[in-house]
Amino acid sequence: MGSISKEDLFKMAKAARESAVAPYSNFKVGAVLESDDGRVFTGCNIENASYGLTICAERVAIFKAVSEGVRTFSRITVIADAPSITPPCGACRQIIWEFCGDVPVVMFDLQGNSEEMSISELLPKAFDSGFLSGS
Ligand code: THU
Repeated sequence: MGSISKEDLFKMAKAARESAVAPYSNFKVGAVLESDDGRVFTGCNIENASYGLTICAERVAIFKAVSEGVRTFSRITVIADAPSITPPCGACRQIIWEFCGDVPVVMFDLQGNSEEMSISELLPKAFDSGFLSGS
């Protein structure tokens, strides 16, 4: 569990979302990743005219942290503006599981309503490196 208050997490996620580059979907997403050593890495979605090159907010936050040598995490938060609280996409669930382990995922809407689920609830029976060692 990260140590940042829910109120501060909301503010940080909302601020991160402001940097989103989403001219094609107009769907801005922000993310806040907390590491075990108390550091915070933020992310936003970044789209491209070649749509498939788009990267989600969660993966930006995780790859920023990993690229700086940080490998243990306590919580990830995501914020988006939709009629119902938005969970991470399937690709991001896989990346969260791989790099963060079974962390809590906090999901906010822009009004500050939130839901929390573990990544193992969001991605049951996950594929991971454990399956690669056999055969
Ligand atoms: N998006 C995210 O940033 N995170 C998710 O978990 C869901 C989708 C972004 C990708 C794209 O820029 C936009 O939302 C619409 O799919």
